[in-house]
Amino acid sequence: MIFVTGGAGYIGSHTCVELLNAGLDVTVFDNFSNSQPEALSRVQSIAGKQLRVVEGDIRDGVALQQALADSGAKAVIHFAGLKAVGESEAEPLRYYDNNVVGTMRLLEAMKATGVKQMVFSSSATVYGVPQFLPYTEQHPLSATNTYGQTKLAVESMLRDVHRSDPEWRFAILRYFNPVGAHPSGRIGEDPQGVPNNLMPFVAQVAVGRREFLNVWGNDYPTPDGTGVRDYIHVVDLALGHVKAVQFLEREAGCNAINLGSGVGHSVLDLVRAFERVSNRPVPFKVGPRRSGDIAESWANPALAKNLLGWSAMSDLNKLCADTWNWQTRNPNGYTG
Ligand code: UD1
Repeated sequence: MIFVTGGAGYIGSHTCVELLNAGLDVTVFDNFSNSQPEALSRVQSIAGKQLRVVEGDIRDGVALQQALADSGAKAVIHFAGLKAVGESEAEPLRYYDNNVVGTMRLLEAMKATGVKQMVFSSSATVYGVPQFLPYTEQHPLSATNTYGQTKLAVESMLRDVHRSDPEWRFAILRYFNPVGAHPSGRIGEDPQGVPNNLMPFVAQVAVGRREFLNVWGNDYPTPDGTGVRDYIHVVDLALGHVKAVQFLEREAGCNAINLGSGVGHSVLDLVRAFERVSNRPVPFKVGPRRSGDIAESWANPALAKNLLGWSAMSDLNKLCADTWNWQTRNPNGYTG
């Protein structure tokens, strides 16, 4: 049994499908603050299996400990948290409370119930401005915003807990840019309001929900002047979590591991691929650079290959095709 916090979210829901497909039992603990119960209904129908759902907040230590004990889980995958960079700058205390205090409550509940294996959702944002590329796990860590600070704080908390008692096992997964959707088109990313991230914005332009894309800067020192990122298919990412759970069962330790493809694509690469795949125009206007953005980011994914036996399978066309399939089937997300 795997206990999945934030299992109804974008990456969580895709991971639940792959856990069920791998024959693992799943309990989801989610407060549905930025997700819909409908996502979990669809997860079960895709996998053809049931999972247990407990509605609750990770900051509620009593509820959390009860749910964890009831689940009989041997390991936790911890997705629950807030993730909007701009919002984290406006409401830092809310971010520390949910992401840092929430994780503390979870570790306390795990300690009380003797569950000592955790896969944690971190982010390549912990590398800050690149000193070299591709980023390896040894790259120095820093954060340029509150969201990134909360990920760094949790990473250090996990290392400290592991040092105090090496029976704890942690896999800290540093995601690059998750995009795409399940190939069934039944689950996907459902951002509330105006999307901050590139792929959902492009998809909403292609489907006609927004007029044009703002390209945030075309004067970066990159091949076409636009920002370069390592886009990773959410199903590849989900499979990485299954591998990480299996890894923790075999091996002790506290390891930070990049989950990226190792390949960078520019904003315009992505726009062109999306136009090809959707057969729709994606009009854009070039605007100023977005504050806090870096020119380029991509992973060295060698450690994931070595430790987990995992690597990304999907190319840019597949990322766009699956996003488009989800977008056209669910033009207004889960609530449409
Ligand atoms: C962002 C967050 C990062 C977080 C990640 C989650 C910032 C500064 N960083 O990463 O901390 O972990 O999302 O997925 O918010 N772009 C446009 N127009 C748009 C949107 C994006 O041109 O409307 C460009 C950006 O300048 C960038 C690229 O597209 O070059 C990717 O942007 P985005 O999808 O927001 O991801 P990141 O900024 O890499």
